[in-house]
Amino acid sequence: MSQETVTFSINEKEITVPKGTTVMEAAKKNDVYIPHFCWHPGLPIAGVCRFCMVKVDGRPKMEIACNLQATPGMKVFTETPEVKDTHKWALEFHLVNHPLDCPICDQAGECRLQDYYMEVGKYKSQMERPKVLKPKALPIGDDLVLDTERCILCDRCVRFEEKITKTGALGIFNRGDRAVVGTYPDKKIHHNYQTNLVDICPVGAFTSKDFRFKQRVWFLKDKPSVCPGCSTGCSVDVYAKPEVRSYFRVKPRESDVNGHWMCDVGRKTYRHMNQEERLRSGIVTGADGFRTRSRFDEAASVLAAKLLEADTNDIALLVSPQYTCEEYNAFFSFFVGKLGVKKVFQWREPTEKIETFDGILYRGDHNPNTRGLADALKKHGLPSDVKNGFDDLARSGAKLVIALVPEIGFQYPSLNAQISKLEELSFVSLWTINGTVFSHKGIAHAIPMKGYAEKKGTFVNFEGKVRELAHAFPAGSDDARDVVEVVAVLSEVLSHSN
Ligand code: SF4
Ligand code: SF4
Ligand code: FES
Repeated sequence: MSQETVTFSINEKEITVPKGTTVMEAAKKNDVYIPHFCWHPGLPIAGVCRFCMVKVDGRPKMEIACNLQATPGMKVFTETPEVKDTHKWALEFHLVNHPLDCPICDQAGECRLQDYYMEVGKYKSQMERPKVLKPKALPIGDDLVLDTERCILCDRCVRFEEKITKTGALGIFNRGDRAVVGTYPDKKIHHNYQTNLVDICPVGAFTSKDFRFKQRVWFLKDKPSVCPGCSTGCSVDVYAKPEVRSYFRVKPRESDVNGHWMCDVGRKTYRHMNQEERLRSGIVTGADGFRTRSRFDEAASVLAAKLLEADTNDIALLVSPQYTCEEYNAFFSFFVGKLGVKKVFQWREPTEKIETFDGILYRGDHNPNTRGLADALKKHGLPSDVKNGFDDLARSGAKLVIALVPEIGFQYPSLNAQISKLEELSFVSLWTINGTVFSHKGIAHAIPMKGYAEKKGTFVNFEGKVRELAHAFPAGSDDARDVVEVVAVLSEVLSHSN
């Protein structure tokens, strides 16, 4: 059945949209600029900021575009002097009681008030009375700080709490210039989606404890990526300062998988790529049993020599579901296809509850590529069912174990205990980004790996959707490699030795 449409015009340009479309949605789709605060494509309409005013031909008053449905033949204007003047004075109204916190506000550089002042404001203030002061720096959530003085009462955060998390902790209290956003008595914000409030707040009223005062946003570079925190695979942007090899935050990127949101667990998936947390060099052990840090080339040639000496039946692979499909294919093609290794086990977290789901985005399978690993195992003729293979590995009698360690260590509460178990085996090569492995004295060998934001490739999420890591930051360590690169070097060394 074909969809009913409406043809109308914006600034004398004819536009055809599905019936029921608002002027704001139509404008957005057609690159027409209408300033707005309270409208958000992922939330119900509130119509409270009165900033998105447009003129409709033949009607006496300005109207708000976010709650105005397009009708046939309607003529909308967004750029007349009268409309521009309305935006300018509406903005002054929003700024009447707004504090001049910009030099110390984390939102500076991403603040809609700043941007709009430059785009549609630039008025000379007519206010003579002092600003109304309101409570500042309130710790109202586990990771949130609220500055009610900066708030412009757009109601986005209130609607988010009502409609998305259904926790309803926030409200707007009092009236007029005493109106203030806050939590209901005895309520705090504890859920796993708090930092979305920081994202949707168009000003700096909500800030994140994790990011507060750490960086000016204009010094950061961002690249699109996929969150590795669970099997949903949300689209995200990772923010870093590559010149100092530091990562600062992860924010959601709109997609059909996650809409406009992401969870707070996923926001933490940048920390392990920072210098102080990651394994920046290889580990090798000399004939005297003395362990040292090494460059990548040395660590790779030590492993290649071990592989040459070993009987294939003595080699085992231990693989976690946190690597890309391309990495699995390179890994299994080399070890299973070329060397004929048959002992392959999965590295899983014993406490995980794979089937759980919080009803919004976060899933109990805390790995981004369980499906991709299963597909790769099947493709190489290996059993692909999900299970923790640690006990089977211990019983297998393997003398040389190569392990793809889970990248997101905090999603594996048993990680250190599991690495300790590996210390009991005769020679283990850990391929990992996790800097704590050096403290495990029984680990003879390690290769430093790139983080997910530093490589290209794909994950397959819980429902079989391919999620692409299309852009990569330079590796945070000169010696870090992805699995494809490590395998290429091993393959090269072995081919010259035959
Ligand atoms: S805190 Fe931010 S999102 Fe909430 S009402 Fe105020 S300006 Fe809007
Ligand atoms: S729901 Fe999963 S994939 Fe999405 S942000 Fe949270 S941890 Fe990351
Ligand atoms: S965006 Fe339309 S009234 Fe706020």
